[in-house]
Amino acid sequence: MIEVAGARRDRLRVAGVESIGAYRLLRLARAGLEPGIPGQFFMLEAPGRLLPRPFSLCLAPTGELAFLIDPIGPGTRALAELEQGESIDVFGPLGNGFDLSVERPLLVGGGIGVAPFPYLSERLGGPPAVLGFRTALHAEAAALVPGAEVVLDPTLVTDALPADPGDVLACGPEPMLHAVARLVPDAQLAWEAPMACGYGACYGCVVETGGHNRRLCVVGPVVRGHEVPADG
Ligand code: FES
Repeated sequence: MIEVAGARRDRLRVAGVESIGAYRLLRLARAGLEPGIPGQFFMLEAPGRLLPRPFSLCLAPTGELAFLIDPIGPGTRALAELEQGESIDVFGPLGNGFDLSVERPLLVGGGIGVAPFPYLSERLGGPPAVLGFRTALHAEAAALVPGAEVVLDPTLVTDALPADPGDVLACGPEPMLHAVARLVPDAQLAWEAPMACGYGACYGCVVETGGHNRRLCVVGPVVRGHEVPADG
C-alpha cells in the first residue's frame, strides 16, 4: 500500500448528485478523508473505467466532500451518472494546493476551472472573483462562488481583470492560464495534466515548469505564473 502524507484511500458512499447548470455536483460521504487545502486534488474511481480521474475539491460541507463534474467523456459521464447509495474508491487529498497567505486575493477562472473556487472562496473569506464561461447554462456554476463577476464568450476573463489585480489565484483552460501568467507572473495557477496515479509513480503527468520536466502531481497542481512556458 502506497503511503502519501495526509492522504487516505477509502470507499465513499454517494450522498447525492445534483445538476448545477451544465455540470453535476457529486457529493460523497466523507468517511475518514480530510478535505485538505483548496487546490489539492483527489483521485476518484470512474465506474467501468480502468484508471481513476483527478478532481479538485469543490465544497467541503460537514461530513461530505463534493466534486464538480463536467460530463464530457466516458469517465466523467460515469461519475455524473452515479446514484445515491452507490460507492466509489477515493484517494486524497494529494498534491500542493493554493498558498492561502495572500493579502488581496482575486479568483480568476474559466469553465470547469471554477471547480476548486467554492471551497477556496470559503477559506479566503469570500474574495472577489472573475469567472468566464462558454454559455449561460455553464455560468450557473458561478452561483457556487459568492459575489463572482461573470463574463461569457467571446469576452475573456483577462479582459475583465482590474489594472491592479492583486494576488491572482487562477484555474481554467491552458490558454487562459497562459494569458493570466503573462499579465500576472506571480499568479498561482492550478494546472492540469492527465494523471493515472496522483502520487508521483506513473510519470503520466509530466509538464514543463520552471524550464524542467516535472511531475505535476508532485510539484503542483498549483504552480506560479513565472514557472510555466510563456508562449503556451
Ligand atoms: Fe502519476 Fe503524476 S499522476 S506521476
